[in-house]
Amino acid sequence: MGVTVEIIEPKLLSGAVADEILATINEFIAESGRCTVALAGGSTPGAVYRDLARPPRVSEVDWSKVHLFLGDERWVPVDDNQSNFRMVKETLLGSLPSPGPKAYAVNTTLNSPADGAKDYAKTIAQVCGAEPRLDLVLLGVGEDGHTASLFPGSDLIEKQDGICFASVKPEDNSPRVTLSPQILFSAKKIFFIAKGEAKAGIMKRVLEGDENPRDIPSRLYTKAAGSVVFFLDSGAGKSLEASRTRA
Ligand code: 6PG
Repeated sequence: MGVTVEIIEPKLLSGAVADEILATINEFIAESGRCTVALAGGSTPGAVYRDLARPPRVSEVDWSKVHLFLGDERWVPVDDNQSNFRMVKETLLGSLPSPGPKAYAVNTTLNSPADGAKDYAKTIAQVCGAEPRLDLVLLGVGEDGHTASLFPGSDLIEKQDGICFASVKPEDNSPRVTLSPQILFSAKKIFFIAKGEAKAGIMKRVLEGDENPRDIPSRLYTKAAGSVVFFLDSGAGKSLEASRTRA
């Protein structure tokens, strides 16, 4: 497992990450004829998805060979403005040429997040096999160190198996569905994306501290099987040791 930190000028971050995603998707398509990706939710990745969906990048991928999942989802209707799938539709899917990617939303019309998690796990297993190993996982970092919907102190952090779980955001008790640590961190490649000075403190703890992932779930990267790249803008990276990779 290798960990790289790229610190990039704010206005160049989304384009740089879009280029890396593009190259990685094409690498996996060349290798196996397809690419399976778990997309990050939240507000940061929207600019990256928009850059991916714009010329020239948009025509540099055979999207019909790409399978898109969500790393986590809020338990809201898919047209709710809090929905990660809605955000992905608006910033990426809506602008892709057809035949586009196969994009799998969490079915939030089911009775409960637990049912939604079970159903999503079935979908992932149908597409990726009973022991799924995704090609690429994109993740954000919350100011409390959460990633996907794996929150500090959650029992989910120590789960060694499972594909998808029901979760709750402690701040407002809002129900969520999240891919498991096993699925997220067994991926062949993991890209974390974080921007803004508000993330500088947590990024220092994530990358230069030694706290238990139970307290800072983004530190699960230390157990990752594949390669991990942190794409930070200069704000999010401002408290890191100066020796970090600078792009
Ligand atoms: C979500 C995300 C979540 C997000 C972080 C960072 O559904 O909210 O999956 O894990 O990546 O909270 O969010 P921002 O990018 O908005 O700072």
